[in-house]
Amino acid sequence: MTVAVRVGLGPRSYEVLIGRGLVDAAAEHVGPLLKRRRTAIVMDETVDALHGPRLIGALEAGGVAAEAIVVAPGEQTKSFAELERLCGRLLDLELDRSDLVLAFGGGVVGDLAGFAAAIFKRGIGFVQIPTTLLAQVDSSVGGKTAIDAPQGKNLIGAFHQPRLVLADLSMLDTLPDRELRCGYAEVLKYGLLGDPAFFEWLEGAGPAVLAREEGALARAVARSVEMKAEIVAEDEREAGRRALLNLGHTFAHALEAQVGFDEGLKHGEAVGLGCAMAFRFSAFLGQCPAQDAARACQAVAAAGLPSTLAELADGTFSAEALLGRMAQDKKAEGGALTFVLARRLGEAFVAKGVDREAVRGFLIGEGARG
Ligand code: NAD
Ligand code: GLY
Repeated sequence: MTVAVRVGLGPRSYEVLIGRGLVDAAAEHVGPLLKRRRTAIVMDETVDALHGPRLIGALEAGGVAAEAIVVAPGEQTKSFAELERLCGRLLDLELDRSDLVLAFGGGVVGDLAGFAAAIFKRGIGFVQIPTTLLAQVDSSVGGKTAIDAPQGKNLIGAFHQPRLVLADLSMLDTLPDRELRCGYAEVLKYGLLGDPAFFEWLEGAGPAVLAREEGALARAVARSVEMKAEIVAEDEREAGRRALLNLGHTFAHALEAQVGFDEGLKHGEAVGLGCAMAFRFSAFLGQCPAQDAARACQAVAAAGLPSTLAELADGTFSAEALLGRMAQDKKAEGGALTFVLARRLGEAFVAKGVDREAVRGFLIGEGARG
């Protein structure tokens, strides 16, 4: 069964289709968006090896020509150098603004290809075909595209909405367990930030989702996408409510930058740990009942995700270094720290101007060096 979730953005509205076998039917879904039946597919080497021939074969069988542009896997691909190479390839292929780029992969490929599409000839359409759970429930929806800078992650980018998202659940069959858990951290995030009933369902159904049981996985993806679509439709440019999607991210980005991207800590793992820390910090500040924070942390830990600093490869962090990273966060304003905190399970809020000394005290309580 295919579920369709609409992202309502006026003339830039689009559908997210969720189901099995969507890659095999790609020509049917992408064809109507094309003037001339020609596309460029951006994918990384791993996705190319596992699923590239299946997508290219399906498109060509449906009369859509597909040129493959293959990049190296990993966060380092979200770089100026790779962006330049990708735009160069799109120019060599003589794509024009009526053609489409297909971003076939995880969040790395989606962010890079989406940003290239945003700036290529001042903007070309693109379709997201996410192949990781994280990309299906989060990064392929909502139009945030970016590359990283030496100063930090996702600092150079644009809002550019896809024309369509095809979330084919069969892609997840080949996803390593660790990557599945990373995506599950984002699924938990939706329950924690805005849907207590979904969170409660995940407390029971989490093992089935992580065991890739079809019904549980489909429900987890569909509910996550529904929540993201609703929030993005209300606040596309993150002027307000969309910031709630950053639950856990102030801690996560600081930890990723400190550990080194792609090293010991993956983005989804950092988000899971960040959500646990955001709930504990909320309880520390007296904003959230301690038992809610304990349940949030338990749900993260039960998924096999790190929920404490001590579990990271080198669990020793300097509070000062983490505070320095947090001050560079995109949400920081004039050096004042911003966090997404929680009042209870399923109710997050944005807290601006959070006192640095309170954060320091919390981090030291979490095991960071003073
Ligand atoms: P990723 O794209 O690096 O993919 C993770 C790994 O899984 C890669 O090695 C990839 O080759 C492999 N892979 C992908 N699909 C596979 C499949 N079907 N089978 C087997 N292996 C597969 O990482 P990710 O976790 O998908 O995305 C993380 C990125 O997303 C980060 O750069 C993050 O900043 C970004 N992100 C963006 C947004 C947004 O709104 N734009 C939101 C969240 C995260
Ligand atoms: N992943 C956060 C957002 O899309 O806003």
